[in-house]
Amino acid sequence: MRFEGKSVLVTGAATGIGRAAAIAFAREGAMVMIGDYNDKAEETVASIEGEGGTAAFRHCDVSKGTDVEALVAAAVKAHGRLDAAFNNAGVFPPEKMFADFDEEAFDCTIAINLKGVFLCMKAQLPIMAKQGKGAILNTSSVGGVIANPGMAPYIASKHGVIGLTRTAAIEYAKLGVRVNALCPGFVRTPMTEPWFHREGFLEAFLPTSPIGRPAAPEEMAGTVLHLCSDEASFTNGAVIIADGGQTAI
Ligand SMILES: NC(=O)c1ccc[n+]([C@@H]2O[C@H](COP(=O)([O-])OP(=O)(O)OC[C@H]3O[C@@H](n4cnc5c(N)ncnc54)[C@H](O)[C@@H]3O)[C@@H](O)[C@H]2O)c1
Repeated sequence: MRFEGKSVLVTGAATGIGRAAAIAFAREGAMVMIGDYNDKAEETVASIEGEGGTAAFRHCDVSKGTDVEALVAAAVKAHGRLDAAFNNAGVFPPEKMFADFDEEAFDCTIAINLKGVFLCMKAQLPIMAKQGKGAILNTSSVGGVIANPGMAPYIASKHGVIGLTRTAAIEYAKLGVRVNALCPGFVRTPMTEPWFHREGFLEAFLPTSPIGRPAAPEEMAGTVLHLCSDEASFTNGAVIIADGGQTAI
């Protein structure tokens, strides 16, 4: 019970990696506040409560400052503090050649994936600094350290998350706050589900994956909990790649 009595915030926990992490946090004793713009997050709360855990959901669009401030304030009001935050909400726009992306698709991706992380950290850092302790983990991607064709706005947003992470990490380390980035590889979630039905996709992907398969969302949760726990007390400003070896090739 590494998170017994701890107040933990997770964004993007209606489905996928965030949902698996929220459930794992609660199993380790955390009181989990979920922020998502999809009310399906109520099902994550119900699942946690069904196991005897503690969780609450607040509707929040992470690209909106007022929503994010209200979410973080709700977590602090409910539990008196904020011990860890997993800023994970994100979107993946349909793939296109660079010059075929319109301005709107670029702005929307940056607003959620990059500005959303900025807004979350902007609200969380002062609270954790005042406590003299806290851990933040931002979801980047292997697309934060390498490029893939057809994904210009997504790749830019995920590289940007690493920049925000490293900057906050060096500014807040002496104030007791650790900030890290997680770079998942290919994880089977609603975000990537369409890829499984695309002809020839798996046949092309599998040879690029040393582990030879996509991950289940639950396989990210252990790394998430470790980085948000005191076990990782010297891990700060780190970019942790969990991709089955894909970027090691
Ligand atoms: N699945 C993968 O292969 C993979 C790989 C690398 C990185 N990631 C990243 O992991 C994170 C989680 O993705 P996932 O694969 O679990 O996909 P997912 O679609 O299952 O989860 C994304 C979550 O974010 C929420 N969300 C989206 N926009 C939001 C907004 N504006 N405000 C609040 N919530 C919002 C969704 O409702 C959902 O709960 C994302 O940041 C994604 O970019 C995923």
